[in-house]
Amino acid sequence: MRTFEKICDLRAFLKSQKRSDLRIGLVPTLGALHWGHAALIKAARRQNETVVVSIFVNPTQFDDPEDFKTYPRDFQSDLAFCERHGVTAVFHPSEAEMYPTPSKTRISVPELTRHLCGAKRPGHFEGVAILVSKLFHIVQPDCAYFGEKDAQQLAIIRRITRDLRFPITIVSVPTVRETDGLAMSSRNALLNPEQRRAAAALNRHLQNAQQLLKSGENGLEKIKTQLIQRIQSESAAEIDYVEIVDAETLQPATAVDRALLIAAAVYFGGVRLIDNFSCNFAKKDES
Ligand code: PAF
Repeated sequence: MRTFEKICDLRAFLKSQKRSDLRIGLVPTLGALHWGHAALIKAARRQNETVVVSIFVNPTQFDDPEDFKTYPRDFQSDLAFCERHGVTAVFHPSEAEMYPTPSKTRISVPELTRHLCGAKRPGHFEGVAILVSKLFHIVQPDCAYFGEKDAQQLAIIRRITRDLRFPITIVSVPTVRETDGLAMSSRNALLNPEQRRAAAALNRHLQNAQQLLKSGENGLEKIKTQLIQRIQSESAAEIDYVEIVDAETLQPATAVDRALLIAAAVYFGGVRLIDNFSCNFAKKDES
């Protein structure tokens, strides 16, 4: 496995891979790798001969400096993780390499950004968008892999890829969960045992709402109110948002006639976790 810190060295390496007609898969990460990332790497290895994992705690997407400071970092264990999972190259740039001067360029998709996490984390998705666009330019992968847990991020990256005409296939990978259903996240490591227990209930409450929708309940406000009450009954939980939205536009859902996303962001102590479940009620194309 090769490790690169400089953009020019990574580009030279990838040029040789492309000359040999090897397909390149990119897995962008913030590090603190876990089984969720392993699923992304596995999907990338299935479809590409060369798999690049970027490990970069991107300062521009952290709206809270304390969150940036405490975000888990363990590069040596991340490297070993990548080696074990058959990654071809790790890109681990410094902040100065990625942002030699403060970026004056902005990339944003206001229609998709102003709801859910975007409403509560000003600048977060602009930070993700600029970083992911830079990575797309640097690596020029055939495919890039993102988790479905970050549903809003995924929708925004799909839109940017389409709007900026990046010749890249965006591949989404289902959320990987702990045995009790808690969605895997690097932030889970920051939970104390009581918060960890309460956090595990979040996926059960979301699944319960999904079941209600699937069983024919179409009172969206009723389902949402019930979901909020259930989450609030967990002692360590403080709701940031709970929403049922159109899975593509991320606008609040008004009818049960399309793909819907039941999404929540909840604080357990100081740790903010997100999760979502989807239901597709779109009519099948019969043509
Ligand atoms: O989802 C993440 O880990 C990050 O937001 C990403 C896509 C690597 C950009 O920094």
